[in-house]
Amino acid sequence: MSLNVEILEQSFERVKPNATQFASSFYQNLLTDYPQIRPLFANTSMEEQEEKLIMSLVLVVENLRNPDYLTTVLQQLGERHVRYGTMRQHYPIVGAELLKTFEAYLGEEWTPEVKQAWTDAYGAIANIMLDGANHVEEIVEG
Ligand code: HEM
Repeated sequence: MSLNVEILEQSFERVKPNATQFASSFYQNLLTDYPQIRPLFANTSMEEQEEKLIMSLVLVVENLRNPDYLTTVLQQLGERHVRYGTMRQHYPIVGAELLKTFEAYLGEEWTPEVKQAWTDAYGAIANIMLDGANHVEEIVEG
């Protein structure tokens, strides 16, 4: 992965103090803009889910300098997502909503450079997760 690690670390630090609100606003945006995603979270405690999302984002950012470890963790996460009903076409939707939420929280600090860094990072994360998902036989192609 050739990512802009410093920009990702710095911009994530700015979001961290409001991480809970960030996650809650992300899922609100996602489920409002894409109601077709709602059934996937029908039996989910969204409060717990928000915590899990934050923890996984922290894990990703803290391990940008350990790409081998990060790859393994993200492949496993992608593999588990097949069981959650996640399909290939959901990844760009979630990416767009995540970027939108970053933009809302970073305001003027959401510069073209920061946007590019997160676009690249999400693309890399999604590719590794999908790679993990491909290891699961019953992968559902959308
Ligand atoms: C950057 C990409 C993503 C990250 C970091 C992420 C993170 C997580 C984490 C940490 C969990 C908790 C369970 C576990 O660790 O296995 C989870 C569960 C889940 N994710 Fe994701 N996810 C991502 C993409 C997606 C996408 C594209 C979808 C599709 C809409 C999705 C839907 C779900 C669902 C349905 C669950 C299960 C909720 C439950 O337990 O009821 N995720 N995700």
